Order: sequence, then C-alpha cells, then structure tokens
Amino acid sequence: MPAIVIVGAQWGDEGKGKATDALGHAVDYVVKFNGGNNAGHTVVIGSEKYALHLLPSGILTPGVVPVIGNGVVIDLAVLFSEIDALTARGVDCSALRVSANAHIIPSYNTTLDKVTERFLGKRRIGTTGRGIGPTYADKMNRIGIRVQDLFDANILRQKVEGALFQKNELLVKVYNRRAIDAGEIVEELLAHAERLRPMVADTARELVAALDDDKTVLFEAGQATQLDVDHGNYPFVTSSNATSGGACTGTGVPPTRIDRVVAVAKAYATRVGEGPFPTELHDADGARLREIGGEFGTTTGRPRRCGWYDAPLIRYAHRINGLTDLVLTKLDVLTGWERLPVCVAYDVDGTRQDEVPLTQSEFHHAKPVYEFLDGWQEDISKARDFADLPPAAQRYVLALEEMAGVRISAVGVGPSRDATVVRHDILG
Ligand code: GDP
Ligand code: IMO
Ligand code: MG
Repeated sequence: MPAIVIVGAQWGDEGKGKATDALGHAVDYVVKFNGGNNAGHTVVIGSEKYALHLLPSGILTPGVVPVIGNGVVIDLAVLFSEIDALTARGVDCSALRVSANAHIIPSYNTTLDKVTERFLGKRRIGTTGRGIGPTYADKMNRIGIRVQDLFDANILRQKVEGALFQKNELLVKVYNRRAIDAGEIVEELLAHAERLRPMVADTARELVAALDDDKTVLFEAGQATQLDVDHGNYPFVTSSNATSGGACTGTGVPPTRIDRVVAVAKAYATRVGEGPFPTELHDADGARLREIGGEFGTTTGRPRRCGWYDAPLIRYAHRINGLTDLVLTKLDVLTGWERLPVCVAYDVDGTRQDEVPLTQSEFHHAKPVYEFLDGWQEDISKARDFADLPPAAQRYVLALEEMAGVRISAVGVGPSRDATVVRHDILG
C-alpha cells in the first residue's frame, strides 16, 4: 500500500484540500507535514463547505486518522477552535494525533509577525500574520517551544523566559512596543496542555508502523513549490519546506518509503502576498479569472492576484518534487475565452529563458513568452470523463501535459468533491 505526497505546484491555493479529500476514501492516514494556520483549504461536500487551516483535509473522511507532523507549527487556540467548529458540524476529530516534536506558535510570535511586516514597509512579504515566520526562525535558532514542553512546566517557563529575553529587547528597543510578560505566556500555553495531552504521540514511529502494516498514508502539503523556503522565489516565500522532501523531514518517514508524489496545479495561476509573478494580469482578464474562480484567500480574504498558466513553473515543480502525477484544477474557470495564452518561456532582459530563472533579479525581470491555445464555450462542469470535454478543452489539457512532462491524472471541473475528470488512478 502506498505512501503518497500531495504538494502545490504554484503559489498555493491550487485545490490541494479538494484533492486530499477526494482520495480520503482510499487512505488510512492523512498527515500535515509543514506550515500552520497560514494554510486555507476549502473542501465542498454536497451543500456543505468546510474551510480547514491547521487540520489535515482528510479529517472530513470518517475512519481516516488525521496526523499533525513534527514539521508543522501549531497555534493551540486555533487548533481547538477548529476542532470545536468541526465537531459542532458532526465531524469526528477524536482520532487526531499530534507530534510531540511539533513547534507551538506562542502569541508573541503572532505579534512579532505583524510588527515586522509593518516595519518592513515596501519590502514586506505580505505574510498571513499568523506567526509562522518567527516560529520557524525560533526553531532554527533553537529557542522554540515544542508540544512536549507543555508537559513540564519548569522547562516551559525556562524556555519562554529565554525566548522573551531576546524578543523583548527587539519589541521594546526596535519596535517601540511594550515588553511581554513570560508568566502570562506560560499560563496561556499551560491552559491548553490537558486537552492536548491525549492527542500527543510519537507520530514518526506510528506512521512507519502504519506503512509496515500495509496502510495507505497521504502526506498533505500546505503552501506550494514557489512558496518553499529553499526552492521557492525567496524571500517571497513561507518559512517551511512545502515541497515533497518536506514530507520526510516534517514527519520522520524516510524518503525510501514514499511511493507517489502528486502536484496540484491550477489551469491558470494565482498568488497572494508580494513577490514576482510573470504571468500576472492587471486587466479585465485578471478580474474575470478572480471573479469566476472565486479567487479570494481562504485564510485572510485578500483578493488573489491572477494570471495565465505558466508552463516552466510546472516543469520546475516536476523537477523539484519528483512528480508521478499532476492534478489540474479549475479548468471550468477557463470556459468562455476565445483563446488562452500559456506561458512557455520567459524573456529576461531580451534573452529567452526556457526555465524558471535562477536569481531573484532575473525572476523580477522575467516577461512571459506566450503561445495561444484555442478556448471553448461549452459548460464543462458536468464532465466526468475526458471524452465529455469539448475538443479544445481536451487539447488544452494534453498540451499542458506535454509541456509538464508528467501525466495529468485528474482534471477539476468544479469545487465539489465529485466534479473531477479522472484519467489515471493515482493510487494504482
Ligand atoms: P488549497 O489551499 O490548495 O487547498 O486551495 P484553496 O482551498 O485555498 O483554494 C482552491 C479553491 O478552488 C477552493 O475554493 C476550492 O473549493 C476551489 N476548487 C478546487 N478545485 C476546483 C475546480 O476544479 N473548479 C472550481 N471551480 N473550483 C475548484
Ligand atoms: P495554502 O496551503 C497561498 C503566502 C502569504 C505570503 C507568504 C508568507 O492554502 O495553499 P506566511 O504567513 O506563510 O509567512 O506568508 O506565503 N502564503 C500562502 N499563499 N496559500 C497558502 O496556503 C499560503 N500560506 C502562505 O500570502 O505571501
Ligand atoms: Mg489555500
């Protein structure tokens, strides 16, 4: 039975939540391995719509064990309010497992995230303001607070005092804010400890044991390849590894156990926050993609920047993640255009480049080189077989598949769970 990783191919919000949910019936575990409540996954089941942030999307399928791996950063108040909201809607969250090694987002880091962004001004990243960056920085700096620290009040107090010793200097002397009281933070964190305790586990051991036991494990990335701290377009990225390698470091499951890597890509492109975006549209086409695609952030409600499909970006995602399958989403949003531009290369200061530029300066200067594919006018939202799609839509998918160099195994034609054209069995 396989271990499958699902990642985003572009700048996030590709529809990873829907893809994870769609595979829910066939998997035993769904594991979140990176990020935190900066993520926002919308899953539509019948007339019900769910917005998930910290919990893996597999939680919506009865019988699936949801796991939060060591690579995740957890805002405990958000975790429990998400569990409460889902429980009130009849979703059973009692099987949730949380790694003892996952890091906690203390409220001082949410404060610091927002204050730092304001301080950066024009150079800001456009973060979600959830404390993600400062918490991963603490982890690397070895002043982070982990889940297991909640069960030793003395250690917790020492660690919070140590972290605030540095942070208060910054808050008071650089940012002109009031110092934060360590005692209050410790109380805030300890208030969640007893509720958290039964969920805490050695998840790395449990996941490998599950694979030994022939169970199917799905690893669900937050964010996406271009937001990966190492492989995305730094510094306009999130602070974790959102690419397939992160599934190993963020869970403790070794690379030799991974069988399939699936990337989800929109049939066009979107981005939230700052940073280069070669195919971005500032015209009526962009506004139309935003409106028809409902392109507003699940987490912050910000309007998403919209643009045409960028083929070199997907080839890059293929190379970095080692894809076995691609899931193309939101093809239905492209209905009604006469012709559809697809970026096939970049013009960087007069030179054609077929691959994603290496340097930040080149990426900022990259202008898309477009090829034009025929559009279609028919409503495709009821299509379930590839043959149901109009010929031009089929040609669009086949052209993108050829450019990506990896098979497109499913095509999304609407937000609901069943609105998908399946071409290949991802689990097979
Ligand atoms: P994620 O962060 O990758 O899980 O994606 P989000 O949930 O943030 O954003 C994707 C949005 O597109 C959600 O509102 C989904 O309900 C919606 N969606 C996913 N697949 C499709 C599709 O094939 N067609 C349409 N129209 N909407 C889709
Ligand atoms: P999902 O999982 C889209 C973006 C933010 C910002 C940058 C850094 O729903 O695809 P952070 O708060 O992480 O420090 O912000 O990353 N970002 C996302 N954009 N989808 C997401 O998650 C994102 N998570 C973070 O907008 O540009
Ligand atoms: Mg999202």
